[in-house]
Amino acid sequence: MGNQEISAQERPMDKEREEDILEDISNSLKGFPRERSSLIPVLQMIQERHAYLPPEAIKMVAHHLEMMPCEVYGVATFYNQFRFNPPGRHPIKVCLGTACHVRGGDIILENFERKLGIKEGQTTPDREYSIERVACIGCCALAPVAVVDDTVHGHMAPSRVEGIILGHKIEKERKEREISPRKNEGGTR
Ligand code: FES
Repeated sequence: MGNQEISAQERPMDKEREEDILEDISNSLKGFPRERSSLIPVLQMIQERHAYLPPEAIKMVAHHLEMMPCEVYGVATFYNQFRFNPPGRHPIKVCLGTACHVRGGDIILENFERKLGIKEGQTTPDREYSIERVACIGCCALAPVAVVDDTVHGHMAPSRVEGIILGHKIEKERKEREISPRKNEGGTR
């Protein structure tokens, strides 16, 4: 199944990238006063620079502001603007504004979730996809709407969910073949 293929592909670069992110956060924290009133600006800074709040960052913020990590986490979860998972290379946004909701936006969301094996707000283990729900994006006449990468997909239907994911998979395989055309040839000799 597609889900198993996705979860089997952890990339070795990710650990390194996470370390870079934490180092950047550590340096940026120095510019904020060590007081509780800095909490929201600090979380916004991290979200803006890295598009999510890594778990280790919560601890670093708590330490810097002399708070408990659970307090920082509690405040961060209260606001919808903060993500706790890195966005995927293909971010999927499913509109659940009124027009889209009435026309089955929640069914589209469920289909993406089932197809990718993750829930809204999560990212696949290989970081290819992340799913989030959004409010009206201004294309109500095309409801229900999903935005994948920067492409708006109007009049969404469950069968199109399958098609979008399959299209990415085919494109990814094509690119991989282009990058290493000789690798496969070498293996046959
Ligand atoms: S409600 Fe979905 S685009 Fe307006």
